[in-house]
Amino acid sequence: MSSSTVINNSSTTAWDQSSLPEKIQTFDEYKSLYALSTENPDRFWTLAAQRLDWYQFPTKIKNTEFDYRTERGVEIKWFEDGVLNVCYNCLDRHIAKDPSVGEQVAIIFETDKLTEKRHHITYAELLRDVKRFANVLKNHGVKKGDRVTIYMPMIVDTCVALLACARIGAIHSVVFGGFSSHSVAERISDCESTIVITSDFGVRGGKCTPLKGKIDVALTMEQCKSVKTVLVFQRNHGLSATEDDCAEQRSSLLWVDGRDYWVHDELEKVDDKCDPEPMNAEDPLFILYTSGSTGKPKGILHTTGGYLTYVSLTFKYVFAYTPGEVYMCTADVGWITGHSYVIYGPLSNRATTVVFEGIPTYPDVSRFWNIVDKHQINIFYTAPTAIRSLMAHDDSFVTRTSRKSLRILGTVGEPINPEAWKWYHTIVGDSRCTIVDTWWQTETGGFMITPIPNVWELEGGSATLPFFGIQTQLFNKETRQPLQPPNTGELCIRDSWPGQARSLYRNHERFVDVYFRPYPGYYFSGDGCEIKANGYHWITGRVDDVLVISGHNIGTAEVESALVQHAGVSEAAVVGYPDPKKNQGMYCFVTLKDGVEESDALQKDLIKTVREIIGAHVFPDIIHFAPNLPKTRSGKIMRRILRKIVEPDVHNLGDISTLNDPSVVDELIKKCPRSH
Ligand code: PRX
Repeated sequence: MSSSTVINNSSTTAWDQSSLPEKIQTFDEYKSLYALSTENPDRFWTLAAQRLDWYQFPTKIKNTEFDYRTERGVEIKWFEDGVLNVCYNCLDRHIAKDPSVGEQVAIIFETDKLTEKRHHITYAELLRDVKRFANVLKNHGVKKGDRVTIYMPMIVDTCVALLACARIGAIHSVVFGGFSSHSVAERISDCESTIVITSDFGVRGGKCTPLKGKIDVALTMEQCKSVKTVLVFQRNHGLSATEDDCAEQRSSLLWVDGRDYWVHDELEKVDDKCDPEPMNAEDPLFILYTSGSTGKPKGILHTTGGYLTYVSLTFKYVFAYTPGEVYMCTADVGWITGHSYVIYGPLSNRATTVVFEGIPTYPDVSRFWNIVDKHQINIFYTAPTAIRSLMAHDDSFVTRTSRKSLRILGTVGEPINPEAWKWYHTIVGDSRCTIVDTWWQTETGGFMITPIPNVWELEGGSATLPFFGIQTQLFNKETRQPLQPPNTGELCIRDSWPGQARSLYRNHERFVDVYFRPYPGYYFSGDGCEIKANGYHWITGRVDDVLVISGHNIGTAEVESALVQHAGVSEAAVVGYPDPKKNQGMYCFVTLKDGVEESDALQKDLIKTVREIIGAHVFPDIIHFAPNLPKTRSGKIMRRILRKIVEPDVHNLGDISTLNDPSVVDELIKKCPRSH
């Protein structure tokens, strides 16, 4: 019995309405619609697609194959003969339906610095800015299907850049502003972008980061020779900044004539007429890189019609959103949460969405709750890491604020421990707000397992039940056989949903290998999960070589390859361990080259190397110099044993007799600061 049968067990009335409801209000309603979504996906997703405006409404709805063993192989197509434009659906159509919506606030920009002017951008203003910037892109030769790398801080211009790409059919590839020049270069070259959009600086927590400077370094690298144009937003443009933290860096900004252009200059040359490009539903919308089990990041490819249908519906139902409410998601647009639930989900529902440039602890740990009061936020969505870091401080930082406007609190990115859930619920939400713990991934496009507010009981730490169209299935890792709940196993999804990634950019083979080969006929999530007797899902964490640290995915192989680039290192093995604050910590076993001395200075230097090569958001917690690593006779490092050592769970190491030299294990345990 799968989780879906738990839901289907109870009698349901068939859904015979001609449209989907505005809100899901009862469990029976959920069950009816869930049954429709799994038994007749064509019908359910036709109704969902009707929530959008299409130039041509699709006649073909679902056309998908998950089994790589079939002649067709893995192929995912939704709404394949439909034609629409994502930007039109997020902006134009709201105003077309009701011109007064032009005056409604689309984005509230909360800058890092409290001294700067607060910005409210209406739908009409945002549309005008997007059209003008789209014309700048066109002037620089960007066409439908071209890849555009976006390396920006969390400012309104970033949203403008994404929407402008969507408007003209260019494929955006956003790279999180914390990534290093090397990481950006790798991502630029993988998708062969010819143009980069960046900003002179980013400001977070009062600190200035030179983004354009990092692009300059990236573009000196051989693999970035494809880039011909860099469009540079000026972060302070239009803001009434009373002081300029970035003055010094600005004076040393490098400028390459004929390659680098200030966006505010280019905007002078364009008008605000720009028709949206009609796009086929399966035309790519964006690429977003995520870490995998191997060193090379995966270019997750999302397409147009299915993605927007899915993020729009999930946003609507999971936040029970009504236009007029103010919504804030604290994620950076550099991650999928920023794409789906700062921009596309909210704007396609005519929401007012807050773009927050800063960090939760600046100028103090009341920042989030002050923002909530200042903008009267109704729905607030953040990561467990932020919650855990804030709950470490005195509750008065929260309780001195009102938070009366809040209705729903959301979490995403990693399992939320029951203690943090309780604090979020009782202290932040005054035991009044409901919590939606949303489990999903870059690859899934939108929410997969999530409560629908006030429709069923919550259990702190459980993402509860699957969203419409999502059929979960557990598998036993050893036997590879399906497991019937209640049980714990590897979490897979049977059958397709419109929001899922279609492929890895120009690497369908790896897409199939990673997600569809482990369990034939199923999408493999890479997460472990327990499904209890009541059908509730409890995500237990990654089962592969990906760490989830403070809500960020980091591939251990990527860190290992950064470590071995250091001149003193001959070999490295990186594993995670449970960390109460960050979800996981990063433990690096490092074998030095002959003659290289172990030292504190070298440890620091290795940490610096990793951060320089991958990005400042990646931080090795422990460097353990290990002259020998546990290896099989064929020379393969046994990471399973290393994980047990650092967990620590040294009494369950399993069979170590196949090791080349089993005594290595004792040496490692002796020196491991976590096993004592
Ligand atoms: O391990 C799961 C964890 O984050 C992974 C996906 O990371 P990413 O692609 O960066 O997307 C993050 C934002 C959607 C998952 O495989 N994860 C995400 N949400 C949850 C979670 N783990 C437990 N509970 C969640 N609500």
